[in-house]
Amino acid sequence: MISDLKDAAEAARLRAYAPYSHFLVGAALRSKSGLVFSGCNVENVSLGLTICAERVCAVKAIEQGEMTFEAIAIIADTEVPIVPCGACRQVLAEFSPHLVITSWTLSGKSQQFSLADLLPLPGQGILVPRGT
Ligand code: THU
Repeated sequence: MISDLKDAAEAARLRAYAPYSHFLVGAALRSKSGLVFSGCNVENVSLGLTICAERVCAVKAIEQGEMTFEAIAIIADTEVPIVPCGACRQVLAEFSPHLVITSWTLSGKSQQFSLADLLPLPGQGILVPRGT
């Protein structure tokens, strides 16, 4: 089951739009109902507008009505498996704070993380309840 996500992430990585960093990243997540959504990083000449692979697959899933994520695979051509950036952690935690993350290198090394470990207390104190 993990390997289907890895395969989808690897295929998505080849569709990355990364003319500035030349760093290609692929990701794929499985939603609660078993659907797979893939993503790649999409860079922009205004560099801060770049969107990471992880957020691309998350927003694709949400747009299809899939609000709960069971697992995500990430792949990049690095020595050690990469971890999602802080922005992606926060976006993923909005939907699945205990998401299981498996990150792969192209050479086949992998490392597993829990999003809860990477981002403790994702929303504590942020939302102030107001009168209904
Ligand atoms: N990137 C991702 O897509 N995911 C990560 O987890 C790390 C970074 C992208 C953003 C940018 O296009 C390039 O990799 C270099 O940071």
